[in-house]
Amino acid sequence: MGQLTDKTALVTGASSGIGLAAAERFIAEGARVYITGRRKDVLDTAARDLGDQAIPIQNDVSDLDDLDGLFDRIAADGHRLDVVFANAGVGEANQPLDSLKPLAFDNTFGINVRGTVFTVQKALPLLNDGGSIVLTGSSSAHRGTAGFGVYSATKAAIRQFGRVWAAELAPRGLRVNTVVPGTTDTPGLRGLAENSERSGGFVNELASGTPLRRAADPSEIANAVLFLASDQSSFITGSELFVDGGEVQVYP
Ligand SMILES: NC(=O)c1ccc[n+]([C@@H]2O[C@H](COP(=O)([O-])OP(=O)(O)OC[C@H]3O[C@@H](n4cnc5c(N)ncnc54)[C@H](OP(=O)(O)O)[C@@H]3O)[C@@H](O)[C@H]2O)c1
Repeated sequence: MGQLTDKTALVTGASSGIGLAAAERFIAEGARVYITGRRKDVLDTAARDLGDQAIPIQNDVSDLDDLDGLFDRIAADGHRLDVVFANAGVGEANQPLDSLKPLAFDNTFGINVRGTVFTVQKALPLLNDGGSIVLTGSSSAHRGTAGFGVYSATKAAIRQFGRVWAAELAPRGLRVNTVVPGTTDTPGLRGLAENSERSGGFVNELASGTPLRRAADPSEIANAVLFLASDQSSFITGSELFVDGGEVQVYP
């Protein structure tokens, strides 16, 4: 028996990086997993690699009609959800206050915060009581890094929503927790580098300030997500699980 045998999970932003690794881990533990992302070609490739237990649905979490379509489709398939990993998110570097553009602000908040809030809200009717909701936070929410104000603030909002939803949903036995990745070597993070040749160096530079002196592999975040998604964490709700190589809690 796997830890998620006969369970159905939704992982948003699962065509790449942390979401893809989590979907892979969930499937290895016996789950059927709905995976989403905006780029159809990337999503289809991920689904092919993940195999029959992955069900791809092209979707933009910042578009509420699109979100309705996602949950209508899951319901039409005759499935309910045991796990929601609301992970889809984007990061933007170099957005200091003095040059911040409203459009960039709206885009990052629209995906990371609005997208997460309405993903979870619209999932509620399909979620089985006793299920698990996992949100993706960031070590950035615990630091004041120049240029990362908007991104950090979106992730600070996520950690607070997680606590409030844990209180609101406890009567249904639904648990809500936030996984807090530190620097994790994903296509998304590499995309923040000035150019693709510099992306490896960029990730290493970011990771060099952490006690473990390296970036995480996405599978290391996925292991923590599996823990929060499964009954192994049955008495944990409203919490944040730091998977950051000690970045936030330990002085390097
Ligand atoms: N990598 C890190 O160091 C790090 C650290 C802390 C937190 N995080 C967080 O971890 C999460 C995953 O990031 P990652 O590093 O794995 O990045 P990634 O490799 O870029 O993966 C992001 C995934 O989200 C999808 N996505 C983005 N916007 C979306 C939208 N509007 N609707 C649906 N799907 C969307 C992407 O596919 P499409 O682009 O095709 O939509 C992709 O599948 C994010 O919430 C990020 O903020 C990452």
